[in-house]
Amino acid sequence: MTSRLISFEGIDGSGKSTQIDLLSAWLTERNIEFVIVREPGGTSISERIRDILLDKQNLFFSGESESFLFLSARAQLVSEVIRPALESGKFVICDRFIDSTLAYQGYGRGMDLSQLEAMNNMAIGGCVPGQTFLLDVDIENSIQRRSGNEDDRMESAGVKFLSKVREGYIQLSTQFSNRINLLDSTEVKSSIFNKITTQLCRVYGDLNV
Ligand code: TMP
Repeated sequence: MTSRLISFEGIDGSGKSTQIDLLSAWLTERNIEFVIVREPGGTSISERIRDILLDKQNLFFSGESESFLFLSARAQLVSEVIRPALESGKFVICDRFIDSTLAYQGYGRGMDLSQLEAMNNMAIGGCVPGQTFLLDVDIENSIQRRSGNEDDRMESAGVKFLSKVREGYIQLSTQFSNRINLLDSTEVKSSIFNKITTQLCRVYGDLNV
């Protein structure tokens, strides 16, 4: 059976939250049980790690240290929330997951991809997403869409970094094309959402009601 873990990925300002909100309403309407989590975060330990990771005062983060902290937050979230929810038959909707690490720390920061994959495997212990929706947005739109909010440490990393992350995501969608659905986030919201639900109904027969 395909894992009921569904992740949403994309650079900031790609519209993940909007699509997750729509999906949450859609599942509720159908009386389907689910939980929503965000990464890094979702448990009290992971939220504390998130504060460290996004704090702009932490200027001299090494790539290794940053990676271990993202992975530590993930390991905690999987064992405390994701695995128990999946075991009880619920869907889990994840705002970012394993691909964020490959895109940001791997393609963005230049950390070794195979090492990051091994670290991901250790953190998730087999909880691989059944489906991933990658919302692709160009850098200009991404920056425009998040204007007004103060940038956190990751968001202040600059345009060049963000371009590498975006390209990385696109490569991942080719590499894992059976799992990652690439969506153009400049399309109207309802049409993107239609594509998401069509794909979910195709993969999870019980959603088809
Ligand atoms: P967000 O909740 O606003 O998306 O902020 C999380 C930030 O952390 C975002 O810029 C992406 C980044 N990130 C990584 O660099 N690696 C990861 O593994 C995860 C989950 C997030």
